[in-house]
Amino acid sequence: GHVIVLAGGLSYEREVSLRSGRRIADALRSVDVPVELRDADATLLDSLSHDPPDAVFPVLHGAAGEDGAIRDVLELLGVPYVGARPDACRVAWDKPTAKAVVRRAGLSTPPSVALPKEIFHDLGASSVLDHIVNRLGLPLFVKPTRGGSALGASLVRVAADLPAAMVGCFAYGDAALVEQYIEGTEVAVSVIERNGEPHALPAVEIVAAGGRYDYTARYDAGDTEFVVPARLTPEATERAALAAVTAHRALGLRDLSRTDLIVDPAGEVHFLEVNVAPGMTETSLFPLAVSAADLDLGTVCRDLLLTRFP
Ligand code: DAL
Ligand code: MG
Repeated sequence: GHVIVLAGGLSYEREVSLRSGRRIADALRSVDVPVELRDADATLLDSLSHDPPDAVFPVLHGAAGEDGAIRDVLELLGVPYVGARPDACRVAWDKPTAKAVVRRAGLSTPPSVALPKEIFHDLGASSVLDHIVNRLGLPLFVKPTRGGSALGASLVRVAADLPAAMVGCFAYGDAALVEQYIEGTEVAVSVIERNGEPHALPAVEIVAAGGRYDYTARYDAGDTEFVVPARLTPEATERAALAAVTAHRALGLRDLSRTDLIVDPAGEVHFLEVNVAPGMTETSLFPLAVSAADLDLGTVCRDLLLTRFP
């Protein structure tokens, strides 16, 4: 038997995914798992049905990878895979929906409004934007309702910058999430399941050079400083861990996830989003958290695979 690490695809995050895929394939090989690193391309389904693997480890970011579509197809083919099921992916991938679910589960998440492009035609762009600034205040954070790697995302400190932020956002998606920006410490908490129980790994604090954790800051080595464990009080550390586990459970995720949070100066934790296929590159947060927990990435990935084909 063999395992397929699925990476690439045609999303905006293709290059990131290929880097994540190589990292996971190397990690699995280092613990003697026979791995084929495979692009999600037009030949994939034929090869999955003619030569079914024991399991698939999906490391596809962006649409199709994280919105549940590829996993739906894997279900149809009867191929086991690591990670959340399609329904849970759909909910997690849509940021406004995920925020609503975790809010019902008791987490704080910044006030926001989700705006499909069309609403600007109906209601008038300047009228909509004026009312948003009046209600939500400044600064604001604008990002596609569905997306990743900070593509199309921007911080808006003055109202005059909001229209450009919306245009930048609509380059990557048909709807924008406009969210109150909460100043504080940005942390990411990765979760892995052991015996079906989600466990939080140490929180990783993100300190982007120039203060912006954008696409370049994410994937160019040296552009961002990661502090792990994050410089939080023991209470805030505990709250951040609990928030990530709560989000994982409330969204019905499986095996692994990464929740991005802001810890405000009072130590309160605010949910930003969750990732069902967290980045696994050399500069990504999940592998850092695994090392900080004194775990080996290959062993963690192998154990997740083994729960899918015992
Ligand atoms: N979307 C990128 C890969 C991440 O969340 O890490
Ligand atoms: Mg994300």
